[in-house]
Order: sequence, then C-alpha cells, then structure tokens
Amino acid sequence: MPRNIIDVTDLTVEEIDQLISTAEDILANPAKYQDACAHKQLATLFFEPSTRTRLSFESAMLALGGSVLGFSEASSSSTSKGETVGDTVHTVSCYADIIAMRHPKEGAPFAAAQFSEVPIINAGDGGHNHPTQTLTDLLTIHREKGRLDGFTIGFCGDLKFGRTVHSLVNALSRYENVKFVLISPAELKLPRYVKEEALKKRGISYKQTESLEAVMPDLDILYMTRVQRERFFNEEDYLRLKDSYILTPEKLETAKADLSILHPLPRVNEISVAVDKDPRAAYWKQVKNGKFIRMALILKLLDIHV
Ligand code: NCD
Repeated sequence: MPRNIIDVTDLTVEEIDQLISTAEDILANPAKYQDACAHKQLATLFFEPSTRTRLSFESAMLALGGSVLGFSEASSSSTSKGETVGDTVHTVSCYADIIAMRHPKEGAPFAAAQFSEVPIINAGDGGHNHPTQTLTDLLTIHREKGRLDGFTIGFCGDLKFGRTVHSLVNALSRYENVKFVLISPAELKLPRYVKEEALKKRGISYKQTESLEAVMPDLDILYMTRVQRERFFNEEDYLRLKDSYILTPEKLETAKADLSILHPLPRVNEISVAVDKDPRAAYWKQVKNGKFIRMALILKLLDIHV
C-alpha cells in the first residue's frame, strides 16, 4: 500500500517536525536537492480551482528535477464523460509516481486512494481538510516564531467551511500549550466535529467570540480566512457575512509588536492591502514556504533521501 496524506494526522508530530527541518534545509541549500527527483513524475488532478496549491506542487517537483502532468479543470478530463474519480485516479497512477488531488467533495481523495498504486496527497477536499496548507502554515509559524508550541492563535472568519482552519486546528492541538481563540459570526463557527476531535478529546480549552477587536491584544498569531462563497447554500447569506471582518492598519494598533498575520490566500476583502507593508504580515512569506514544504513532502512520500 502506498503512503497517502489525506488528513494531517496521517503524519506523526515527529514526522511533521522532520518535514519542517527538511524544508528549512532545502531553503538554505536548494542546489543539493535539484536532481533528487530526476525521472519522477508528479500528477496534479484539480477538480476545483487553485492558484497556489497546484502551482507550488508543480514548482516543487520541478525544483527537485522531476516533471509534472495533470489537469486543472474537471471539464478537461474524462470526468466530463462520466468517468468515476476512482477510474481517473487508477489511470493516472499508471503514469505518475505521486498524485496531488483537489476535489469539491469531502472525502473524495480518501475514496480515490483506494484505487491508486502510488501515494495520493489531499490538496483540499470540499469544506473538510487541507493538510498541505497546514504544513505550509506550520513551516511559516516555525520560521516566524522559532517554535510550534506555547502561543495564542486566533482563527478569524469562516471557521465553518474553511478547510485550512480545520486541518491547522487539528495539527496544533497536538503541540504543547497552544491557546485557541475562535473568532467568527455565529453562523460560521468551527464545526462541532472539529472541536470534539481536535480540542475536547485532548482536553484543550478554547475561547469563542464574535469580536476580533476584543481579543486582538492577546494574540501571538492571527490566522485570517476568506468567507467561502462556493460552499454557501444561498447568495444572500454570503453577501450578509462576507465582510464580517476586515483587517486594517487601524485595527492592528492594539496588537502585539511581534504578532504574525497568516492567511492561506486568496484574500478577497478581509485584509486591506495597506496591511501588506506591516512587518507583522507573514502571508506572502507563507506563499513561498508552500513550495519548500511540498518539496520535503514529495521526497518523504517517494522515500528519497538526500
Ligand atoms: C485555501 C483553500 O483552497 O482552501 N487556499 C489555498 O489552498 N491556499 C483557502 C481558500 O480558498 O480560501
């Protein structure tokens, strides 16, 4: 059975720490890795839109000396002829050595993995999980703060449909002394199953609030998110909730001097462009980190040691 990464808990904490240290070594010594995946192929199967995740996977494989194939729209694959995801993945696993797959249906990468002969990486499944964004977030936090424990992190925005939030809460709940502050409108609270599995089961307390202003001074990390329009059942609710939080330089006046502001991107309105100049903004560094942690993950799943 190939090793798949469907959920962030498919990796132990020790393995995550190892991936972070490999990514940091790649950042410091990129030339050492440039031929590590020569003659290996990565397939990116994206049944849902993406900019950063797909291109960082492809850029990662190319920087390792491998090559890439795949599609970025379901309409250009045989899915549009009625082929099942299982058959599509079975086919691609005959050509590629590793597959990154994004799909609008929760659980699709898990189901598809049963038909694959090569490792499958979940690159986002509906409103469920996004483990490689979490690895990107963890690398960014590690590079900003020098550690992955002992801080207060606020998650702000669409905590209901935001899959990156679900995976990151799950990952950070396994580190020591992380305090969680959940900031959202009542309709977009973190789902009960995430609270149960990640927080309550591990005896971790958390704070829920609708007010970003009220908790801003407490935060070491602020994780902003976009309201996930494509997951809403009606447009009116989206329009009512979309601008619930807009981070501006004024709102940051009460924040800590060493706050780190993260966002998986794309942003719509929730962080004003004026914040980009603030030294506490880490989201463009996060974009860059995404490539290097994916390089580390590809090496691990292909069992290549440099
Ligand atoms: C996120 C996603 O696709 O879930 N984007 C990403 O992968 N960087 C966040 C989002 O779409 O809001």
